[in-house]
Amino acid sequence: MAGIDETDSLKLIGETVKLKIGSRNPFQYKPPDYANTVSAVMTSKSKTDQIEAVLEVIDRVKRENIPRGLVLDPSVVTPDKPRKVEEMVKIKAVLGKGNSAGEVVSVQDVSTGKDFAMKTILIIHFNKDEIRAWVHLADLDKAPKLYSFHMEDNKVIVKMEIVKGKQLSDIMVSEGFIKLMQDEEKSEERRYFSLLLLHGMLENFDLLKKGKFTHGDVHGGNVMVLHTLDVQSIDFGSAKSIRNNDGIDHAQRLKADLVNIVHQFFASYTGVHFQNRGAIQEALEKKDFQEVRRDMAKIPAADRNWLFSVMLMVFETVRCSRQEGFADTGAVAAAVAGMLPPRAELEDIKRKLAVLLFPEKYTNRFHGSEFVTEQEVILPEGATILDDPDLADLATLVDLEKDFGDLSFF
Ligand SMILES: Nc1ncnc2c1ncn2[C@@H]1O[C@H](COP(=O)(O)OP(=O)(O)O)[C@@H](O)[C@H]1O
Ligand SMILES: [Mg+2]
Repeated sequence: MAGIDETDSLKLIGETVKLKIGSRNPFQYKPPDYANTVSAVMTSKSKTDQIEAVLEVIDRVKRENIPRGLVLDPSVVTPDKPRKVEEMVKIKAVLGKGNSAGEVVSVQDVSTGKDFAMKTILIIHFNKDEIRAWVHLADLDKAPKLYSFHMEDNKVIVKMEIVKGKQLSDIMVSEGFIKLMQDEEKSEERRYFSLLLLHGMLENFDLLKKGKFTHGDVHGGNVMVLHTLDVQSIDFGSAKSIRNNDGIDHAQRLKADLVNIVHQFFASYTGVHFQNRGAIQEALEKKDFQEVRRDMAKIPAADRNWLFSVMLMVFETVRCSRQEGFADTGAVAAAVAGMLPPRAELEDIKRKLAVLLFPEKYTNRFHGSEFVTEQEVILPEGATILDDPDLADLATLVDLEKDFGDLSFF
């Protein structure tokens, strides 16, 4: 989730009281925990402004009959009752923890008996586009369904469908994934796994873009891989609506999302995260992978060439913000789909991958202790560091670049 959108967080105050951000704003210095709750007069000078601001909020709620929230699916979430959320749900388990919100927990609604996931966001961090982008993608089945959101104290509480799968970053430290990386016999599955992921991420990117949104925070903790090997996006806390003339560099945001997608693709194929995210973008910009050489050292030459060609193919869509068809990834997604095997074979591969990556679902061999930490996920034992100062094996890339114009999908 991005920083605070201060103009947004003050919109509630209403039109009549204009508080200038950056000047001596009486609300500015409150720590987030106390923000949007009852505050004390800061100075006698600001007293009138503060009184007016609070009166305006109360008046608007009264005048416009503003609800505290909205239930989108009353069959799952009990519609508004004047009770605190703790009385409405029973907490069952922690599903995950992100960078900004607290823990996302699975809960049971005491009235409907249904289970769902619950995320709590401080109002001061709340971004309206989170809900807008989310609903857009959820309606296309590419994000968990949004059941409700409402304000309580200084928080917005969001209730949503529990994703039937795992976050990508958890998969990447799992025993099954390490097997996928290490077992030579699984190299085909490995390639298809990374392509399936890339295809899913590109699809979600494109669908978000068609709804005029960027995600803004694509990483392994916000990409969910379903048991079906489909991909869903979560955490739209940094999402932004693409509007003209709002001073935001939307082209840059589209590019950043795609570079992050490229990074996740790379990591899912190699098990290696680039040390420096900036370096991979620079390498793609320059079509020169010297800078990321260290990250690539253990990856066989043939794999590197293939990886770079796919990475570049995606990146070419956002190379220059003025180019025609900027960030149109439809053709690239089709090309990626073309690298996957025919349907029947693909279904079989997906089943194999699911058994490997979701043992807790498909087998009974799940032991927490078998899981290893991220530190241990390097590359197969005994892989040699290639002595390749000139990266001669990358020479084929140059041809690839030249050939770009001729490739049928461009
Ligand atoms: N609907 C969901 N189903 C299952 N797990 C979820 C769901 N939503 C979030 N999580 C888990 O909780 C973590 C944090 O949620 P996220 O929305 O990314 O919060 P933050 O904005 O703090 O990063 C995720 O990385 C994921 O593991
Ligand atoms: Mg997150």
